[in-house]
Amino acid sequence: MSDAYTLIEGAPAVADYRRLREVSGLSPKTQEAAERGLRGTLFAVTVAAGGRTIAMGRVIGDGGAFYQVVDMAVEPEHQGRGLGRRIFAALMDWLHENAPNSAYVSLVADGDARHLYAKFGFEPVMPASIGMARWIGGRPARGT
Ligand SMILES: CC(C)(COP(=O)(O)OP(=O)(O)OC[C@H]1O[C@@H](n2cnc3c(N)ncnc32)[C@H](O)[C@@H]1OP(=O)(O)O)[C@@H](O)C(=O)NCCC(=O)NCCS
Repeated sequence: MSDAYTLIEGAPAVADYRRLREVSGLSPKTQEAAERGLRGTLFAVTVAAGGRTIAMGRVIGDGGAFYQVVDMAVEPEHQGRGLGRRIFAALMDWLHENAPNSAYVSLVADGDARHLYAKFGFEPVMPASIGMARWIGGRPARGT
C-alpha cells in the first residue's frame, strides 16, 4: 500500500459509512440502520488518506458459527490500487485468528468483486445452494 494510505482497525463513523456506501454505488442505508448496524460490527477496517476515510470493509455475524463480510467499499478515485485487497486480507486475517473450525463465512459478491474474493478461497454456492435475500422497506434503486 502507498504511504498515502493508512489501514485502521475499527468501524467507520456513521457519516463516513453512509457516504462510502453512496459514492461506491452500494445501496443507501438510513441513519438508524447505519447506527444500529455499525454497533453490531465484529471486526472492521477503514483506510484513511489525506485525513479522510476513503475505504472500508466489515465482518458481522454471531461470533462463532456464521460470519458475513459486508460493506467492501473504496472511493472510486482510489479503486484499482490494491486497497480492496488489503482490506479483505485484514478481514481474512482476523477471521483466521478468531473464527473457530466449522465456521461458515459468506458474502454477496457484486459484479467484478467476485474476482477479488475468489483469490481468498471464496467459491460460488451454486449449484448446491442458491443465495436468497429480501429487503425491508422495498428494493433500493441500486446495489446490495
Ligand atoms: C470491489 C472493491 C471494494 C475492490 O476494491 P479495489 O481497491 O478497487 O480493488 P483492488 O485494487 O484491491 O483489486 C482487487 C483484486 O481484484 C482483481 N480484480 C478486480 N476486477 C477484476 C476483474 N474484472 N477480473 C479479474 N480480477 C479483477 C484485481 O486485479 C485485484 O487482484 P490483484 O490484487 O491480484 O491484482 C471496489 O472496487 C469498490 O468499492 N467497488 C464498488 C462497490 C462494490 O461493488 N463493492 C463490493 C460489493 S460485493
